[in-house]
Amino acid sequence: MSTDEFPTDRPAVVTCGLPYANGDLHIGHLRGYIGADAFNRALNTLGQQSIYVCGSDMHGTPVAVNAEQEGIDPEEFALRWHEQYRETFPQFDVEFDNYGHTHDETNTELTTEIVRTLDEEGYVYEKEIQVAYDPEADQYLPDRYVEGTCPYCGAKARGDECDEGCQRHLEPGEVEDPRSSITGNPAEYRERAHKFFRVSEFEEYLTEFLDDLEGTSNARNQPRQWIEDGLQDWCITRDMDWGIDYPGEDGDDLVLYVWVDAPIEYISSTRQYSERVGEDEYDWEEVWTDEGEIVHVIGRDIIQHHTIFWPAMLEGAGYNAPRGIAATGFITINGKGLSTSRNRAIWAKEYLDEGFHPDLLRYYLTTTGGLQQDVDFSWSAFREKVNGELVGTIGNFWYRSLLFAHRNYDGTPDAAVSEEVRERIEGAVGEFREAVNDYSLRGVGGAAARLAGFGNEYIQRNEPWKLVDDDPETAARVIRDCVQIAKAVAVLLEPIAPGKARALWEQLGEEGDVADAGLEAALAAPPRTFDEPDELFEKIEDDRVAELEAKLEARVEEASADETETESHDATADEDEGVTDELEPLTDDRIDFEHFQDVDLRVGRIEVAEGIEDADELARLEVDVGFETRQIVAGIKQLHDLDELAGKKCVVVANLEPAELFGYESNGMVLAAGEEADLLTTHGDAVPGERVR
Ligand code: MF3
Ligand code: ZN
Repeated sequence: MSTDEFPTDRPAVVTCGLPYANGDLHIGHLRGYIGADAFNRALNTLGQQSIYVCGSDMHGTPVAVNAEQEGIDPEEFALRWHEQYRETFPQFDVEFDNYGHTHDETNTELTTEIVRTLDEEGYVYEKEIQVAYDPEADQYLPDRYVEGTCPYCGAKARGDECDEGCQRHLEPGEVEDPRSSITGNPAEYRERAHKFFRVSEFEEYLTEFLDDLEGTSNARNQPRQWIEDGLQDWCITRDMDWGIDYPGEDGDDLVLYVWVDAPIEYISSTRQYSERVGEDEYDWEEVWTDEGEIVHVIGRDIIQHHTIFWPAMLEGAGYNAPRGIAATGFITINGKGLSTSRNRAIWAKEYLDEGFHPDLLRYYLTTTGGLQQDVDFSWSAFREKVNGELVGTIGNFWYRSLLFAHRNYDGTPDAAVSEEVRERIEGAVGEFREAVNDYSLRGVGGAAARLAGFGNEYIQRNEPWKLVDDDPETAARVIRDCVQIAKAVAVLLEPIAPGKARALWEQLGEEGDVADAGLEAALAAPPRTFDEPDELFEKIEDDRVAELEAKLEARVEEASADETETESHDATADEDEGVTDELEPLTDDRIDFEHFQDVDLRVGRIEVAEGIEDADELARLEVDVGFETRQIVAGIKQLHDLDELAGKKCVVVANLEPAELFGYESNGMVLAAGEEADLLTTHGDAVPGERVR
């Protein structure tokens, strides 16, 4: 790994946390896989040699428990899902250079080898521990077979993870008041010898590792806290049949804990790629044992596995450390927690069956959540994003420039790009480069969208349609500029919307694939002639949204009804139940007081509130913030009687960067709670402009 900016002259690998092969893919999965795919594409656009690998996570209780419920063999069960994932990802243009699985030969061999090395290096020892046991079912209860209370935060937890609370990994025996999830009986304990990995020996190494680690801040801050609390050694074996056998004879009936062989698939998958294309083209060993750049995109619930256990394993076995880890936030649907058991989710297949182009979802997810932020999905917010930014800004600009160019010049007019536009494109390219180095997909999408916005403004300002007859030279230059901007937008948007960028590329009559075009293509001349363009984005109508929302609501209701019926034998159901299901989990990612101080919160008084035509939820407000009156666009239209808002006090984030929403500048943000946009206000005499602390 290096600390040079991307692109470096070393090969890179981008990975995304392996999906457990145990159920249908939904928007919560897609967010990560699309994000990592876009990041890998953006690295390639920058000129970084980079591949994207992943695989299915076949082992562990997440698979075993579900296979058992269906009464089939875990291997057969997992392979079925594995095949389905392989088919589904490409439909979202999630293009893995290699997609393997943890049960294949490459991974079984490499896992065995790495565990042997750790053992030989003295990092593994055996210890007698108390293991949960269900006498009625006559079996040991690893991980998801046991439920209880988290000893750290008191949330309801599973045997190995506090997934509804503090997200900590739990060691066998740690969960309090353990109950068997098979029978619901209190678990008994039996003494068993298990293998432990000396994670505690890596304290100093990990502290330094975190100091250098790039990516999102949550992936550094949480583990620092855990290290401060003291690192425990890690039990790496389980009493199960399904998994990779612990190597050597003394491990007899033990398999490796799923979290040992799963991340090793990152290496195995890279290796399979190398073996396929040849080591001259891509050398997995250079990446993993020498100087490559390793970037992991993961969910925020698995930070500990990737920032503590995994780097310790890599270091202990003589492998390279990751350069960057991006941990994505949570996803909510209409402001409520995604819940597969309640069917409150947007399923991958459902989305495609509804006939939406994958790029719409890719754009929505990457530009709202990027690689770090929480994402809320609603069909109406989706529609607003699509209609506003993709149709209104980008598609509109693409279509009108190419159409005008085609009609008047049969393609690209013979003129030079103006200084102003050259600089503007260079600026966008610079923003793109910076965004990738900041692991900011929002920045990547923003660079492309803002450039298109500039294009629209540029056409409007220059009115080429008025110039064609009177001043043909200027007209030709303006349109030449616009075609160049259109091409540059395609290059910059490709990581996020590869399908639509490809289509624009074809319309321009460009050769080859836009995915192979580097940043220099943004300023390279487009082909001299091209055909009449088509519009690439289509508006989503209001009634379509109403229909989709109704469908979602109906099935959530149906699932809740089912659930009450089956509650009694529901012990192994989804991760996402209980009261917390209704609320977004509290974040563990603390900020310091100084950062809080950076947010300039002020009392405001709403002077004008009116709906924005064609936008379901947006209202245009004029808010007195003491020193001036600001125009703020807020998503509160449906939820408030706008006529009653004038005169009401509110709380404004005064130093939020201005943004354009539905063609209106929004200069600040008003705070509101939850789905109903319950407006925050003051209850005393605070006057507009007063600081809120
Ligand atoms: N399957 C795990 C999950 O969904 C993720 C495994 S990521 C890896 O939580 F690092 F282990 F590969
Ligand atoms: Zn907890």
